[in-house]
Amino acid sequence: MADSLSIKDNRTGKSLDFPIQDGSIQAMDLREFKKSSDDFGLLSYDPSYMNTASCKSKITYIDGDKGILRYRGYPIEELAEKRNYLEVAYLLLNGELPSKSEYEEWSHNITYHTMVHENTKQFLEGFRYDAHPMGMLVSSIAALSTFYHDAKNIFDEHSRKLQIYRLIGKTPTLAAYLYRHSQGLPYIYPNNDLYYTEDFLTMMWKPPANTSYKPDPVLVKALDTLFILHADHEQNASASAMRGVGSTHADPYSCAAAATAALYGPLHGGANEEVLRMLEEIGSKEKIPETIRQVKEKKKLLMGFGHRVYKNYDPRARIVKKIADQVFEITGKNRLLDIALELERIALSDDYFISKHLYPNVDFYSGIIYQAMGFPEDIFTVLFAIPRMSGWLAQWNEMLQDPEQKIARPRQLYVGYPERHVP
Ligand code: CMC
Repeated sequence: MADSLSIKDNRTGKSLDFPIQDGSIQAMDLREFKKSSDDFGLLSYDPSYMNTASCKSKITYIDGDKGILRYRGYPIEELAEKRNYLEVAYLLLNGELPSKSEYEEWSHNITYHTMVHENTKQFLEGFRYDAHPMGMLVSSIAALSTFYHDAKNIFDEHSRKLQIYRLIGKTPTLAAYLYRHSQGLPYIYPNNDLYYTEDFLTMMWKPPANTSYKPDPVLVKALDTLFILHADHEQNASASAMRGVGSTHADPYSCAAAATAALYGPLHGGANEEVLRMLEEIGSKEKIPETIRQVKEKKKLLMGFGHRVYKNYDPRARIVKKIADQVFEITGKNRLLDIALELERIALSDDYFISKHLYPNVDFYSGIIYQAMGFPEDIFTVLFAIPRMSGWLAQWNEMLQDPEQKIARPRQLYVGYPERHVP
């Protein structure tokens, strides 16, 4: 039979044929293989979900071998060149790019949900001056659920839309507020006359007494393009956290807080901050061979290198490098750039890295750009969370409407003690 898989269980001699659909078999089919009638049936063992598809999705396509990334079918390179972040967020959530009137309505709705409750300021005051911005972001996104009780109506389409506007609209405001809290600066309210990314940069940097402050349009455009590159990346750790918590029917703020927490880790979104620390620790080109030696001895990881899915190159990294040139024309070159370029050059010509398919990922150069723009290192991952919010919400929205999805509940292989008795 074409498009099927035949499996024989040599314990019992039983053979079965299973259909292959979309390049996969149904894991539940394996349960048909039992040693005896009271046997639970065969499980597949897949630590870290290396080869398990947990959902069907129409949002993001990645071909890791060819280095392809598409949102809703559109190549990331074309979206980065021709569209702005809010259009791309609309695309991720709605499946199509917006018409002019759809865009106007969408950007109006996001813009008019950028204000946060005044209580948020008191909430932020509770954090010490040196609290990590990601810790503050996780908590303040979770805290939004205490303001919006209607968010529990997750099967009401109107309510879902409202929470989506709120989460995409308020995340930059929270990000700017928590930064200004850590700096002891007064908060700047969002301005409904400004485009999303310009508004964010204004809330971040505007001196309180300078009414004419305007961020440089080249930097606004650069950050907006970085937002597009970071908007979604299919079933990574944070999207899986979003879907996993969402599968319990928790409200979207609680789900997004869980996703933000997953992003915080240095193997995921936290890598952009770690790349900068690593480059600063290396300090000069002469010290690069020593770093490479330690990486090969497995004493450290080369942060910003490697990816679970991309085994050729990360297409986002290529675009980020171009953005870096545009930003450095305005800000002056980041002193760490030469170290990064040399590290990349050496790593890409070294058999160790070639044989393990280790290439720069999106985080390798993004931190250097953020630093040149004036962002402190510990806020880099927050700059990843702001645009990823639209991707997380698209994943959540899709999951809630997927009749095949149930509460996420993996199985385990119990390898502990058999029954024993308390002495
Ligand atoms: N530096 C040195 N060696 C590495 C690295 C690295 N960055 N990444 C992987 N390896 C080695 C690893 O030691 C292993 O070697 P061996 O075969 O001898 O055991 C081999 O390459 C395969 O690695 P893996 O850990 O099995 O790969 P994975 O798919 O589980 O991990 C990863 C992917 C991204 C977590 C990993 O490459 C890593 O830790 N990179 C550094 C952190 C980083 O830059 N993360 C950002 C990812 S992109 C942004 C995002 O989407 O979050």
